[in-house]
Amino acid sequence: MTAKLIMGTEIRETILEELAAEVKAIQAKHGVVPGLVTILVGENPASVSYVTLKIKTAHRLGFKEIQDNQPATLSESDLLALIDKYNKDDSIHGILVQLPLPKQVNEKKVLNAIDPDKDVDGFHPVNVGRLMIGGSEVKYPPCTPAGIQELIVRSGVPTAGAEVVVVGRSNIVGKPIANMMLQKAKGANATVTVIHTGTKDMASHCKRADILIVAAGVPGLVKPEWIKPGACVIDVGVNRVGEKVSEKTGQKVAILKGDVDFDAAKQVAGWITPVPGGVGPMTITMLMLNTLKSLKFKLGIA
Ligand code: GUN
Repeated sequence: MTAKLIMGTEIRETILEELAAEVKAIQAKHGVVPGLVTILVGENPASVSYVTLKIKTAHRLGFKEIQDNQPATLSESDLLALIDKYNKDDSIHGILVQLPLPKQVNEKKVLNAIDPDKDVDGFHPVNVGRLMIGGSEVKYPPCTPAGIQELIVRSGVPTAGAEVVVVGRSNIVGKPIANMMLQKAKGANATVTVIHTGTKDMASHCKRADILIVAAGVPGLVKPEWIKPGACVIDVGVNRVGEKVSEKTGQKVAILKGDVDFDAAKQVAGWITPVPGGVGPMTITMLMLNTLKSLKFKLGIA
């Protein structure tokens, strides 16, 4: 068997076109567009490139976008004051503080200061709670798990009654995706197991999975013999395993490897996401969706 590739790069384009059309329609009817601000403290190269891409995507969709870059020396109280300013700004519907933050700033305090109704990352404890309750309580599912669920649904992978095994228990991916897949809802209603570094026999759990979601951050952790034939394999791992010179630009670029041994796994799986080009492109797409949703909540049309 050769697995069907789940291409995030293609699904992203479909969703962005849908969002752009919705932005246009809302602007024509209500005279407003979604407003997104990204706050970046310092110049971590990976963070700079993520934030730049977020702002570029927001611009493409016709959002109002503000890229608020601050020096690495910014104090915690100045950052909190900045968040307060955007919390009160009616033209801003989504606030994203790019992580990680410099040492002098308490990350938890900062995330908790964002108005939960503008927390389009879905990291505020109020939104984590809303996600756990499920149904109409959910406002902003965190972007990477939301992207994973979207890939599964749009690829036609059955979820109701499916055995879902999640590898990894992070607050950003493992815990929220497990929670989302067990809800009594469309694209979910699965039986979910979460496995982690304390699990006795990871292979035996993975072998049961109809949908295997791997977010461990360990290159090549999942072996092909751990995969049930025909299963859907979602690889969230983005591991830098070396560098190469790009043929296109002549610049040095990272060699990326997922948590799954892709070449062997695709001979066994029914569906599989590549790295890069699978889950990665979905995160920013879902950020755009959450920001548009925030405006729709405000207009009472969500
Ligand atoms: N840093 C890496 N990924 C993310 C993300 O999804 N949101 C924020 N705010 N920071 C990040």
